[in-house]
Amino acid sequence: MSRITVLDAGGDALPMFQYQGQNYPNYANTESIVNIHKIPIREDDIIICAFPKSGTHWVWEASRMLLAGHLINDAVEKGVGMLEYAPHDDIQGMSSPRLLNTHFNLSRLPLDIVKKRCRIVYLLRNPKDVAVSYYNFILKLPYYNYKGKWENFMKYQVLGKFSYGSWFDFVLDWEEEKRKHPELPILTLHYEDMKENSLRELRKLDKFLGTDRGDGFLFELCEHTSFAGMNTRKTTTSPEDGAFQGTYRKGVVGDWKNWFTPEQNEWFDKYYAERMKDCDLNIRFTLP
Ligand code: A3P
Repeated sequence: MSRITVLDAGGDALPMFQYQGQNYPNYANTESIVNIHKIPIREDDIIICAFPKSGTHWVWEASRMLLAGHLINDAVEKGVGMLEYAPHDDIQGMSSPRLLNTHFNLSRLPLDIVKKRCRIVYLLRNPKDVAVSYYNFILKLPYYNYKGKWENFMKYQVLGKFSYGSWFDFVLDWEEEKRKHPELPILTLHYEDMKENSLRELRKLDKFLGTDRGDGFLFELCEHTSFAGMNTRKTTTSPEDGAFQGTYRKGVVGDWKNWFTPEQNEWFDKYYAERMKDCDLNIRFTLP
């Protein structure tokens, strides 16, 4: 694990950690990252896997309330069960079924996840909104002290130079793993589908988790885990026990249109077409 500084296209610096060719945020828990493959996995573990800024907090929040069977009113965040962030003793101390989450590819995670056929909730969001969300998140994080401009950030983020690398590498790798492991119980959710109809998507999650809470509860859950609901609840700015500042920003589909210039958009679309040419995922960049 080494400390590195990555420069954006305008020369503004982003301090990061690097380990085995992958970059991580400079506030990462290096011990948890290095030892991630050693975490003892349980058969009933549930793991939410998503590229950063895909709505992981949202799905984690909804999942934990489905598992609990009641609405929860605290500011606790998914960091408590994040495999590369939480101290591993804390993860070991969690009671079953554990709700875990990660931004890692399957190949970097403990092998037992496959052997024990853990349930995986795999969440996707269109990479234009991801890039915008990531930029705004990083700007607000005091750990980075980053002052760079969007035009110097976007391409490098898309090309995977910043923390957690490339959305394309992440997604294509997960698609490949899904093909290799048809036996794995994986629920694929899309942020855009959840925004379009959160009740419909929470029904899928409810069924997948086997919680069977019924529509009355799911209606309340939609409201409670809406962007407005979560934004109000998670007011703390202390990263130790609550939301990182900037986690709850806008919570919409298509904000990228306010950021991408026509030239950036053209470049992105060409890059997307090339990288995704063999992938049949339907990624929606806007909603009707
Ligand atoms: P924006 O920056 O576009 O607003 P993650 O949880 O993976 O870090 O993703 C954060 C993104 O999800 C942010 O996107 C955030 O606003 C959005 N988000 C968080 N909770 C949400 C919710 N309940 N409903 C809709 N979007 C949500």
